Amino acid sequence: MTLSWSDPESSESPWDSPEEGDAAAGSRRAVETSMGFLHAWGLGVTVGWMDRIYGFRKRELFASLPDTVVEIGPGPGTNLRYYRPGTRLIAVEPAAAVHGRLRREAKRCSVELELHPAGAERIELEEGSVDAVVSTLVLCSVDDPREVLSEVRRVLRPGGRFLFIEHVAADPGSRLHRVQGWLRRPWAWALDGCEIRRNTGAIIRAAGFSEVQEDRFSVSGSWMPVSPHVIGVARR
Ligand SMILES: C[S@@+](CC[C@H](N)C(=O)[O-])C[C@H]1O[C@@H](n2cnc3c(N)ncnc32)[C@H](O)[C@@H]1O
Repeated sequence: MTLSWSDPESSESPWDSPEEGDAAAGSRRAVETSMGFLHAWGLGVTVGWMDRIYGFRKRELFASLPDTVVEIGPGPGTNLRYYRPGTRLIAVEPAAAVHGRLRREAKRCSVELELHPAGAERIELEEGSVDAVVSTLVLCSVDDPREVLSEVRRVLRPGGRFLFIEHVAADPGSRLHRVQGWLRRPWAWALDGCEIRRNTGAIIRAAGFSEVQEDRFSVSGSWMPVSPHVIGVARR
């Protein structure tokens, strides 16, 4: 992974202009519905596939995590295998459907789990109390990523790190961007509010972090609608 420091003020990029609307905006998420349970099941069974796609990047990104980590939207615990055994994990996860799998994965990975069964819009932690917050594939499915990022920034200590991997809108004008446009509503409906054409990279860069280190990657060719991705570290 080649990461380069970027200016948090410059949110413009050919990939993501912030004015793009969100298919999921205004619609309430359905984590407690039967679709939420189906999605939770899907998340559970795709953990191995996720490891093949993201594993080597996550091992590098998470290599220097501190002893206590806050993760927003950990789902069934996809990332726990990359955390050092003995890590204390404060997991902010509103979907009750995944809590069982998350607990089992924490036990399997010897991670000490503190579960906050709530959305990351309100994290029950003191301001400036946290060294690191992790988010992978979460900001696509929250109602308001700006609100969540503001809360992430609030709980981080000055200099604390926000580590992220998120899929973002494809390059405007590309075939993939058009495909994302066709798919976004059914995709959001079927996948628990996931917005495939959200400009999450620009939203992170505009969220008021003191610096944002970011790289991009694509997965499995242009047939994959959840691509490209941003990966990086933002500092409060
Ligand atoms: C696509 S899954 C990603 C799960 C896991 N992070 C991964 O990388 O596999 C999105 C997760 O975000 C969670 N989520 C949705 N809205 C949330 C919110 N407002 N606050 C925290 N987590 C949320 C969902 O319940 C789900 O577990």
